[in-house]
Amino acid sequence: MIDKKDYAYRVSAAGRVNLIGEHVDYCGGKVMPAALSLKNTVYVRPNGTDKINLSWTDIPARITLEIGKLGEYKDVKYANYPAGSAYFWQQAGHKVIGCDMLLDCTVPFGSGLSSSAAIEVSTIAALATVAGEAFDPVEVALVAQKAEHEYAGVNCGIMDQYASACGKKDNAILLDCKTLVREYVPILLGDYALVIANCNKPHSLVESKYNERRAEVELALGLLKTKADIACLAELTPDAFERIARVLDGHGKVRDRARHVVEECDRVRRAAGAMKRGDVGTLGELLNASHASLRDLYEVTGAELDTLAESAQAHPACAGSRMTGAGFGGCTVSIVHRDGVADFKRTVSEHYTRRIGYEPSFYDCSVEDGIIVTRL
Ligand code: GLA
Repeated sequence: MIDKKDYAYRVSAAGRVNLIGEHVDYCGGKVMPAALSLKNTVYVRPNGTDKINLSWTDIPARITLEIGKLGEYKDVKYANYPAGSAYFWQQAGHKVIGCDMLLDCTVPFGSGLSSSAAIEVSTIAALATVAGEAFDPVEVALVAQKAEHEYAGVNCGIMDQYASACGKKDNAILLDCKTLVREYVPILLGDYALVIANCNKPHSLVESKYNERRAEVELALGLLKTKADIACLAELTPDAFERIARVLDGHGKVRDRARHVVEECDRVRRAAGAMKRGDVGTLGELLNASHASLRDLYEVTGAELDTLAESAQAHPACAGSRMTGAGFGGCTVSIVHRDGVADFKRTVSEHYTRRIGYEPSFYDCSVEDGIIVTRL
């Protein structure tokens, strides 16, 4: 049991679900994630030493980090994410003081709901808080992204860390990943609810496949730049892309990958409009189209996510469903009429289990603020 009285602060940062705008953040596109009530919480107190003592509510490990050597824990299981986050925060010129940290994570690991971003962002926010520093959530997100690049080896975009740090209760974040300008869009779904389901596929090579996709779209950008004056793929409309896409031929799947990015950016624009009008029908269709593109053009789904999304889409209470996050496993997000949610879960679960051989999981969660700091 956590005795809250023993700690000075409780600092949490959220996991996230991305409603639409998948695999476009590293192409300068707009995304539409939302922060979840599934989160990582850090209980923290100063300890007057030059060490950070880490412990976890659900892992028996206890690990001590020396503040002068924060760069040396890259390969230490469990501690690498908090250590990497602390290290890059320190490198960015911030004060890191000796403290005890107890970490409590309710974002399921490997679910594609960004448990790592939640851990990184909450660790940094906790370090700033215990050192008596005010922090800028956007800077926290950028430093956390750096930790993910260097310590997790994933060449990720900014979406997850940004959503984890800057999420707002009951809102999606329409984030322009090129400029980092954001707009909060209230999630107005009327009689519909968001349902998040995990396909429970065992974790497999997500990092290497992710980095491979990034390399493919970077190659596409280089080739397209010879035909158009663009800084990133997101600057092309679908029509403009089609006019010059021939330059990508002869490079395997590269044309399909770039087409996904360009069309997904267009879907985000339309989805944001639909969300603002409360047009659930259009939003649902855009989710379905996003999934199809991730399956056929970007090829990041797989039998498990396809079966989960397709059985969701076939349910009469469902307006739309798609994979969310990096893919290759992890979760789907579906828009489901409230009256049909129980039947939806039962039917989708039965269908999925029959086809795949094991059950999916459903998470009860809501859209909440990103970072929450509480004085205990
Ligand atoms: C992962 C990355 C994000 C983003 C998504 C795909 O979650 O961390 O930056 O690229 O995949 O949209």
